[in-house]
Amino acid sequence: MSNINLNIDNITPFLPKGEIFNLQPQISKIHEDMEKGKGEGSDFIGWLHLPSNTSKDLIKKINDTAEYIRDNAEVFICIGIGGSYLGAKAAIEFVNHTFYNQLPQTKRKTPEIYFAGQNISSDYLSDLLDIIENKDICINVISKSGTTLEPAIAFRILKDALEKKYGKDETRKRIIATTDKEKGALKKLAAQEGYKTFVVPDDIGGRYSVLTPVGLLPIAVAGIDIFELMEGAKDFEELRANHDIKSNPSYLYAAIRYLLYQKGKSIEILSSFHPCLHYIGEWWKQLAGESEGKGGKGIFPASVDFTTDLHSMGQWIQDGQRIIFETFMVIERSNRELLIPSTKDDGDGLNYIAGKSLDYVNHKAYMGTAQAHRDGNVPNMAISIKDRTPYSLGQLFYFFERAIAVSGYLLGVNPFNQPGVEFYKKNMFTLLEKP
Ligand code: PA5
Repeated sequence: MSNINLNIDNITPFLPKGEIFNLQPQISKIHEDMEKGKGEGSDFIGWLHLPSNTSKDLIKKINDTAEYIRDNAEVFICIGIGGSYLGAKAAIEFVNHTFYNQLPQTKRKTPEIYFAGQNISSDYLSDLLDIIENKDICINVISKSGTTLEPAIAFRILKDALEKKYGKDETRKRIIATTDKEKGALKKLAAQEGYKTFVVPDDIGGRYSVLTPVGLLPIAVAGIDIFELMEGAKDFEELRANHDIKSNPSYLYAAIRYLLYQKGKSIEILSSFHPCLHYIGEWWKQLAGESEGKGGKGIFPASVDFTTDLHSMGQWIQDGQRIIFETFMVIERSNRELLIPSTKDDGDGLNYIAGKSLDYVNHKAYMGTAQAHRDGNVPNMAISIKDRTPYSLGQLFYFFERAIAVSGYLLGVNPFNQPGVEFYKKNMFTLLEKP
């Protein structure tokens, strides 16, 4: 069952279908190379069949650890940066209550969840220490390399806080490390201290790791059904494991992105009308940005939250430099319905929409925006997502992963490395006088 579909009606005025389908030979070649494990970066293609290769046993181990965390912590802190946190953050916001951390525990039934190590701000970490002061805490420290500075600093500080609170022995039981199976400082520390560990597979890079223990453990702690999430990804992996642009939405999306880029549309804006999609946008920006932006090439991935940003970025998108195309994410069914009430005097003049749901109005806002942007020469397409279930989310993650890998190959870059990320680190370490 496909819960993810791509509507390209507002693309075809700019890009005839024939032109899109002409890309089939290139797409087929890339598809076959990926399936055969050929092509640049093919040692990082483990995500391709990850959903069908993940054992029930691993999912059960992750669920058991999540249950242990839920039983022992009022607060769960997830330490990581980039691919080591964005997927989990996106999943928790997509599936769960908008104000998850503020819900009373009796309703939430799972720990409050905070993220750390995704910045080096002293205010952020100090404020987090305030929040967790009198609460029971468990930590999941996540770093594939085990050497990244941001999470390492956060971990050192939070581990110290835990040791002061619980002593060394109890602290050990409250820390779970997700890292390489043998390399890196975190792996060494975990072995020394005897932390429970999960492994990031060798052949999966950070931004492709949401469906490994990197994402799955925090997602499970948040009470989200990771069996269902993996099932969605697996069905999509199998359903779409053919090379036909017409029936594989990942390939259709990849082909359109590439062709629009060739026509000078060098910025893609991922737009949504639902706050629960905000961090899907952040996750996607990393996936697309780090995979494609290299060798002087690449679509710049941007994201906006509508209708909020229609009152800030809307002007630019409608009327600014015509170097953009847009991809909407549309949720077909919200978790909850809210109706606009009618009033006797109609003082605010809103009775014309009284009795309508907010979703109804939101959808009209989307339709009006898509049409306006098309009329303003912004080619746009829409990814429709059936609902906010873990099943649909698994499909969405997989849809984007496959699409962005193929987009990168179409551009002629290796989608699985990120050499550019090293430059700031080199300067920073020199400035810090790292030995
Ligand atoms: O996609 C990537 O590989 C990166 O963005 C990493 O996820 C990020 O740099 C964090 O790396 P690590 O997990 O090694 O700490």
